[in-house]
Amino acid sequence: MTDKKTGILLLSHGSRLDDGEEVIKAYKEMYAEEFPDMPVEYGFMEIRKPGIPETIKKLTADNDLERIIVVPVFVAHGLHTKRDIPKLLGIESDFDEDEHGHHHHHHHDHDHGHHHHHHDHDDEEVEFDGEIILTDPLGIDNRMYEIIKDRVSQHL
Ligand code: NI
Repeated sequence: MTDKKTGILLLSHGSRLDDGEEVIKAYKEMYAEEFPDMPVEYGFMEIRKPGIPETIKKLTADNDLERIIVVPVFVAHGLHTKRDIPKLLGIESDFDEDEHGHHHHHHHDHDHGHHHHHHDHDDEEVEFDGEIILTDPLGIDNRMYEIIKDRVSQHL
């Protein structure tokens, strides 16, 4: 732990269904209960409110934060974590646009196989002067593997 004033943002993809919000909200509440002094919020990168700028506004409204740690609660890296989320947060990524507005590294956007309406979040931008740290997604971890085994064994 450091003495920097830190806020935590648990970030989910966003869905029209409520299931994703139930999950991310539960994790947020678990975190808040374990670390009552740490400001924590949850938000969504698209489709559902609260979006990223709104969530950061919420985090900073009552707290004089120096930095925000954003945890993408995604299983793996993808275009969202590598490109879209950094862009929404206003931080550097490997996929920054050039001066013509073209992306350099991802001419094969079609691997993002689901359709989104990217207009349902306001074009509001993140307003935060401090440091924003975007962590890795959940990734490869024995604790995740245990859950996979549990899901299978429930049906054996
Ligand atoms: Ni998506």
